Amino acid sequence: MYSRITGTGGYLPDKVLTNADLEKIVDTTDQWIRERTGISKRHVAAEGQFTVDLAEHAARRALEAAGRDAQDVDLIIVATTTPDRVFPSTACLLQKRLDRHGCAAFDIQAVCTGFVYALGIADKFVRTGAARCALVVGAETLTRLLDWNDRSTCVLFGDGAGAVVLEASEEPGILSTHLHADGAYEHLLTVPGGVSQGYDSLTDGHGYVTMKGNEVFKVAVNTLGRIVDETLEANKLEKSDIDWLIPHQANIRIIQATARKLGMSMDHVVVTVDEHGNTSSASVPMALDVAVRDGRIKPGEMLLMEAFGGGFTWGSVLLKF
Ligand code: UT7
Repeated sequence: MYSRITGTGGYLPDKVLTNADLEKIVDTTDQWIRERTGISKRHVAAEGQFTVDLAEHAARRALEAAGRDAQDVDLIIVATTTPDRVFPSTACLLQKRLDRHGCAAFDIQAVCTGFVYALGIADKFVRTGAARCALVVGAETLTRLLDWNDRSTCVLFGDGAGAVVLEASEEPGILSTHLHADGAYEHLLTVPGGVSQGYDSLTDGHGYVTMKGNEVFKVAVNTLGRIVDETLEANKLEKSDIDWLIPHQANIRIIQATARKLGMSMDHVVVTVDEHGNTSSASVPMALDVAVRDGRIKPGEMLLMEAFGGGFTWGSVLLKF
């Protein structure tokens, strides 16, 4: 038994913040942001619009594309670092929105690798027969974690959501998933406050993303190169067997480095980072959705998804679409 993606969906909030807008807020330039990151704008959730709202839009679009009703779903996993509440999970809030009662629903938190982790988990549920139709979502309101005085982080991130429907199938499907983490790097990319440290830890300046960007960059490039090798070796495939790379959208220079490692022309890499910046766990499913809907990705093609993020966490998914 395999699991197969049968529908994709994505959603970006209406409000757009351009690089020119950011020039008015912090000491930065459109040229610096474009050259160093490839980002030209990001979307920001409206006041009163939360992660579950974004997740719901993406989930409904994925269900519609799969020709499925919410009642068909027997597992809901939401990958998010920006849940609406401490609890219930955003997955439970989404389940209520979809008027689906009783199936398993939970969040997972692996920051920018969250969707890859969630897809890896859902794949195991489906392969073992524990689920037949999973809704897997990556949804974030990352801008709520930004210090708008910190130019080294506030220009990088944005809000959004992406979703897939993953169904049991005798045909592949997901071929392999590879999940990793190394908590020794927790200090390089973190929101240092949290519930267990007390609410004061979130209000005294530790409730924002802090990042040693340059160091994260170097580890990300090396680690993503290694996971490409690991994924190909595990499946006894050559670089040339991959039709599409669907990378985490953090920085165009990191994406280009992974494409070079694969010997792949950028024509076969799905790039959306210019449109919305780093949307953490939402970035891979949104990029997949864009390239499926515009007809670039076709049934039967071999896709490699990869991501890297806070933790550090990293992972990949190889699948036949
Ligand atoms: O998704 C999770 C994983 N996260 C990532 O993958 C992000 C990884 N890191 C990066 O993408 C890049 O390191 C950044 C885009 C964050 C930074 O690019 P960089 O080429 O590594 O720049 P840098 O941090 O080495 O900074 C170069 C210069 C510094 O000035 P000095 O010291 O050379 O005078 C910074 O102060 O750029 C300055 N700088 C800025 N200048 C204009 C930093 N942020 C800005 C800014 N506008 N927004």
